[in-house]
Amino acid sequence: MKILGVETSCDETAAAVVEDGVHILSNVVASQIDIHARYGGVVPEVASRQHLLSILPVLREAMAGLSFKELSAVAVTVGPGLPGSLLVGANVAKALALAHGLPLIGINHLEAHVYANWLERKEPPLLPALCLIVSGGHTDLILMRGHGSYSLLGRTRDDAVGEAFDKVARILGLGYPGGPAVEKAALEGDPSHFPLPRAWLKGSDDFSFSGLKTAVLHLVQEKGIEAGNKKAIADIASSFQQSVVEVLVAKAIAAAERHGVKQILLAGGVAANQALSSAVTSRSSIAVHCPRPALCTDNAAMVASSGYFRLLAGRMDGWDLDVFPNLSLG
Ligand code: KG4
Ligand code: ZN
Repeated sequence: MKILGVETSCDETAAAVVEDGVHILSNVVASQIDIHARYGGVVPEVASRQHLLSILPVLREAMAGLSFKELSAVAVTVGPGLPGSLLVGANVAKALALAHGLPLIGINHLEAHVYANWLERKEPPLLPALCLIVSGGHTDLILMRGHGSYSLLGRTRDDAVGEAFDKVARILGLGYPGGPAVEKAALEGDPSHFPLPRAWLKGSDDFSFSGLKTAVLHLVQEKGIEAGNKKAIADIASSFQQSVVEVLVAKAIAAAERHGVKQILLAGGVAANQALSSAVTSRSSIAVHCPRPALCTDNAAMVASSGYFRLLAGRMDGWDLDVFPNLSLG
């Protein structure tokens, strides 16, 4: 079964066709990064307008060589995300499904990130699994018992981990988006030169990253570190990344062991961070899977995969499908 996925929850306009939830037939992502970079972050109204401009060319490219007659459904992200951005994708998906007589499936963006772990796999992930969802808006530890069955074990009490990467990048003058910039700078740094705190929140599966971000700000101010001081900036980036990775890895592995899961699945844009994925993989005695970087960050192939498993379960939506900017998982 071929599913068309549509994703417009934040600053990527994306469409993809995926067969049987696994095989990617097309996967097109139009990034707005260059447009938002000059503002240092995503400007919601600019994002919605850009989705309007990009969505039809992106869809046309994703459907090149394919016919709507071959499709079994249209799946679209309905939340969480920016309301104006979500509405563009939802309306386009509705129009396409109506025009071509296809089932319409609304998708939770966080669940879609988890389903990136099904893409391009010969063997599907083993369930139950512990999902560590780390993105620009979320840091969630989720127990996935089966398709569509999730329990939230813990989440961030303040900043999402991707948000912390982006804010620290701004403090260090590394630009936007911050995650890849901090990871690159950290490669040249010494993580022990400027020790930074770790928020363990013992006895809880929750996270906290705002104290760490503030510690970076104070360090930069106290030492008078300027943008040109590449060595100091690399050391801080490296120390910050190590602090984040240590906490994420230790808490994810502890939760996975406590719940006796068969696999740990990484998901979301921050899972593209090689320091994180290699640390979880090397320290865990439970098998770990992480999608390749381009499937960790926002894309529509993960939406189409998620749609396939919803279609199998008979969980379609009606023409009253709405968007839910604060949707959560579990
Ligand atoms: O999942 P995603 O593409 O969008 C949301 O759903 O939020 O995640 C975007 C976040 C941004 O905060 C970005 O800085 C972060 O993922 N990110 C990274 C890396 N690549 C993207 N963070 C750390 N290291 C990376 N390599
Ligand atoms: Zn995302």
